[in-house]
Formats: sequence, structure tokens, C-alpha cells
Amino acid sequence: MFAANENIQIALIGAGGMGQGDAKMATALPGVKLVAACDCYDGRLKHMKEVYGNDTFTTRDYREIVARKDIDAVIVATPDHWHTRISVDCLNAGKHVYCEKPMVHAIEEGRLIIEAQAKSGKVFQVGSQYRSSFVYQKARELFQAKAIGELNAVEAWLDRNTAIGAWQYSIPTDANPQTCDWEQFQGSAPKRPWDPCRFFRWRNFQDYGTGVAGDLFVHLLTGVHTVTDSIGPTRVYATGGIRYWTDRDVPDVMLATLDYPATQAHPAFNVMLKVNFKSSLPEESFGLKFIGSKGVMTTSSFTKLQVIRTPRPEEFDYTIDSFAESTQKQLAQDWMAKHPAATLSSLKPDNTEVFDASSQDAHSDHHRNFYASIRDKQPLIEDATFGLRAAGPALLTNESYFKKKIVGWDPEKMAVKT
Ligand SMILES: NC(=O)c1ccc[n+]([C@@H]2O[C@H](COP(=O)([O-])OP(=O)(O)OC[C@H]3O[C@@H](n4cnc5c(N)ncnc54)[C@H](O)[C@@H]3O)[C@@H](O)[C@H]2O)c1
Repeated sequence: MFAANENIQIALIGAGGMGQGDAKMATALPGVKLVAACDCYDGRLKHMKEVYGNDTFTTRDYREIVARKDIDAVIVATPDHWHTRISVDCLNAGKHVYCEKPMVHAIEEGRLIIEAQAKSGKVFQVGSQYRSSFVYQKARELFQAKAIGELNAVEAWLDRNTAIGAWQYSIPTDANPQTCDWEQFQGSAPKRPWDPCRFFRWRNFQDYGTGVAGDLFVHLLTGVHTVTDSIGPTRVYATGGIRYWTDRDVPDVMLATLDYPATQAHPAFNVMLKVNFKSSLPEESFGLKFIGSKGVMTTSSFTKLQVIRTPRPEEFDYTIDSFAESTQKQLAQDWMAKHPAATLSSLKPDNTEVFDASSQDAHSDHHRNFYASIRDKQPLIEDATFGLRAAGPALLTNESYFKKKIVGWDPEKMAVKT
């Protein structure tokens, strides 16, 4: 229990782009203090001291963080292949964990985190911050109120047309085996000679990252599951290729289709996922389109939601002109009698509703929820089971892509179906 005036003391493990962003969100909240940071590149540890003060404890070895009794919670923002090991060690040491998405590098690791969390009783939040977005909350409310009728399909995309979007991150001028702890970075990954590209652009390589699947599809499936309350698909198929950004062993174009079974919350539907790193403008386009029997609901960039209702009375048959004139007349009369007030314009989309959440910072709210859950036992937004139910099928798109086959998934048991 924390007294009202007592700080929750945190450490950042993995102080790169996202980790430092997470730390900023966390420490902007009242009652959260960052006391330590861990990273494998000295330049980032130096920067953590520049931002949080010289007395910030820094280390290259996360086990020194695990051993410290003054640390209540950690943010794990390392490359994906370290998420499970560090999270489990921290939970076992009695620390609360905010772990970046994708929760795991390999699906089988999910159980280890779920079990460690249950055993420790500590809070474990997955960092897919858009789950906290008002846009998804509003979309869920409208979905449940049947604003678009019954769901038929979801199209979700995250296209990027920049080098950064394609993970070509900067390599610092002082990157070398002295300033970078290559051993510690590699961990359980296959041992290779020092390679600054692998160190700073790890997302492009399966040894450390999860490609489009774990980096981007997971965000899209988090959105689908949040809005529909679905626990996951039963079949997954993916294709794609290494097309434009070729310095990698994961695809830069990826398309996937997933079959979702009917539940009490929704009928069966299909999801289409698409990521393309050399797309047409705009530079980045990110959205989900829920296509229902009575309308279409679209989220864009997690800040806007649009609902267009598409009433579809039985439409006037366009082949009517090829019938005998007397038949044409009869059909027209019948149709007008059935739809007395209807004109052709009533068949056009109607009742457009727009919801704007651009004033919200979902990332900040996701962290707020984590600390409120630690301090006041507030319900957690994204626990390990939710995290695995989003990461599992997302990672299965890799399995499908690399093995060129359709893969079965048991969303209840969170296991691959053979
Ligand atoms: N939620 C989001 O929107 C979002 C956005 C970006 C990244 N992420 C996730 O955050 C994580 C980090 O991504 P990033 O873009 O910050 O990568 P990054 O390369 O900028 O940072 C990762 C850091 O982890 C360090 N590291 C590697 N192994 C370590 C270890 N064993 N102990 C301590 N530090 C270690 C590296 O030295 C590096 O500085 C990834 O899992 C990524 O998927 C999430």
C-alpha cells in the first residue's frame, strides 16, 4: 500500500525511443518518481541522467534493477526478445510491470507472464496505449448500441511512407562495442558478430523483433478486440514480401486475413490487416473500418471516429430496363408501393456522425491507469491475458507468412490449433 504522499518509485529498462517516451508519461503523473534506468547503450544512459538528474542510478544489467528494494515498478521497453524474461524476473521480485507491446516475442512465452503475474499478485499492464483511447471507448459504445447493425468485416491498416516508418532508425556516431553492450543486447538470441545495424534497427530482424506482426498488427488487433469485445480469431492467413526496404529478414509489405467466430457479443466476421512501408501519401495512415449491416464506423489515427449509416432498402433492380415495358412498369409500381417515401437519394449514406478525441493523450491515460491500479486497485485496462490474445494471433501472421500456410488458433486457450 502506498500512502497518499508516498511516491511510486520506478525504473526504466530499455531506454530507447519508446522507453523514454513511456518514462516521460509516467513521471508527468503525480506520485511517480523515476530513480533508475537500464540500457545496453551508454549514450542512452547518459541521456537519462541528463533528463532525470545525475543521481539517477544507471546500469547495463537489468538484474541490478531487479535486486533493488527501492523500486516498486518497472517499464520494460527493450526489444521484443527480452520482454518475457525481464517481466517475469521483475514480477518474481515483487515489482509491478508496464511492458511494451507486443507482450511476447514467441506465443509460448505468454503463459510464463500470466503465471508469474498471478503468483506475484502484482500489476502487469501491456503497453498498447491506444486501448485507452476515447475513440475506441466511443466506438465500443456505438458498436454495442448496434449503430452499424451486425458486424460483417473489419478492414484495418497502418501504412507508412517514410524511412523512420520503415524502422530505419539513426545509428549514433559513437556506436561501438565499448559503448554498446552487444552481449547483453543479444541475450538468448543467436550469437552474431557486433552489428550496429542489428543493435539500433533490431525491428528488421526476427532474432530480436517480430516484424510488422508484433510491431503494428498488434495495435490493430488491440483495436478490434477493444471495440468488439472479441477474444480472438480461429484462423489466420498472411502473405506479403520484402519489396522496397530490403535490409531485413521480415516483410515490409504484409497482408493478413483472420476469421473471427460468432460469440454472444457479435456474429462471425472477418478481419483484413494491411501494412505497407512504401505507400501512397499521406505519409502515415492508420485506421480501422468496422463494416456492419447498417453502416460503417471508421477510426483514424486514434483521434477521430466517423459513423456513416447506409440504409439499404431492397434496391431497385438495375436490370429492369431489359424487361418488357409492362414488366418494368409493374416492378416500378411494386417498388414504390413498398417504399412510398423512398427516392433514389434515400439510398445514399446518411446520418454521418463524427467523434473527435484529439484533445486526449491516450498514452498518458494508459500510464495513469497503471499507477492508479497499483495505488488504488483501480481495474486495469490491459492485463496479460488481453495482451496475449492480441499478440498471439498477430504473431501467428508471421507463422503463416513464413510457413506459407493457414494457421489455426484457439482464442479461449490462447494456443495454436494443430
Ligand atoms: N506502444 C507503442 O506505440 C510503441 C511504439 C514504439 C515501440 N514500442 C515497443 O517498445 C519497445 C522498444 O522499442 P523502441 O522503439 O523504444 O526501441 P529502441 O531500439 O529505441 O530502444 C530499445 C532499447 O532497449 C535497449 N536494450 C536492449 N536489450 C536490453 C536489455 N537486455 N536490457 C536493457 N536494455 C536493453 C537497447 O539498447 C535500446 O536502447 C519494443 O518492444 C517496441 O515494440 C511500442
